[in-house]
Amino acid sequence: MIDDEVFARISKRYDLVRALISFGRDNSCKRKAVASLPPGRRLLDLGTGTGGMLSAVGRGSFVLRVGVDREIRMLLESRSLNRNASYVLADVTQLPFRSAVFDAVTAAYLLRYVDHYRVADQAMSLLKPSGTIVLYDLEAPTGRLPKMLCRFYLVVMTTLYGLLFHGSATAYWHLWQTFGGAAADDVVATLRRVGWSDVARDRGIGGVIWWVVARLAARA
Ligand SMILES: C[S@@+](CC[C@H](N)C(=O)[O-])C[C@H]1O[C@@H](n2cnc3c(N)ncnc32)[C@H](O)[C@@H]1O
Repeated sequence: MIDDEVFARISKRYDLVRALISFGRDNSCKRKAVASLPPGRRLLDLGTGTGGMLSAVGRGSFVLRVGVDREIRMLLESRSLNRNASYVLADVTQLPFRSAVFDAVTAAYLLRYVDHYRVADQAMSLLKPSGTIVLYDLEAPTGRLPKMLCRFYLVVMTTLYGLLFHGSATAYWHLWQTFGGAAADDVVATLRRVGWSDVARDRGIGGVIWWVVARLAARA
């Protein structure tokens, strides 16, 4: 488990490093991932951090966008960018919401910290019938050489940005240490097994970023 202090420390530079590491493409991938979300009243973003998913969704499609995170400084960063969103400081495994109140649940780069089965289970109880989930993360490319190159790139870049922005080589190491913590195939298989419908997967940035969109089957 990652110490919350890790995110408190990097909160101010998190978005810059996220953009640098992804060649500026993380935001556009996030926009693609949420593009198929049907408009609704309430959206919940789990592990919202600095609010990348809330920004990708934008103000138009939901009356209420709620970001949940357990690290206050990440939420404060998000609030400075997404003033019209609402925020809840909480652990995603112990959420203070009634069941079946949200039209959509999203989570980006969270499944490396919280088991995907648990996140899907939470979303199932929080979503209204036919609500949509969007899960978004990174995984290592297939093949030994691409895997090694990808890991090498992450180790070098996170070390460089850690030294540059925080005077500490290890400030961003959790990004590569947790790399590949969630694989798209496993997430798709779990969602299908526990009864989600219309499970679809897509990829960006050479297949390293993936997202899965699924709909909660209407309750009988
Ligand atoms: C890598 S950041 C991702 C932030 C954002 N979703 C994005 O796409 O850039 C992971 C975030 O998840 C939060 N987090 C990790 N475990 C959590 C938990 N159990 N409950 C709430 N937030 C959690 C961290 O505090 C951090 O802000």
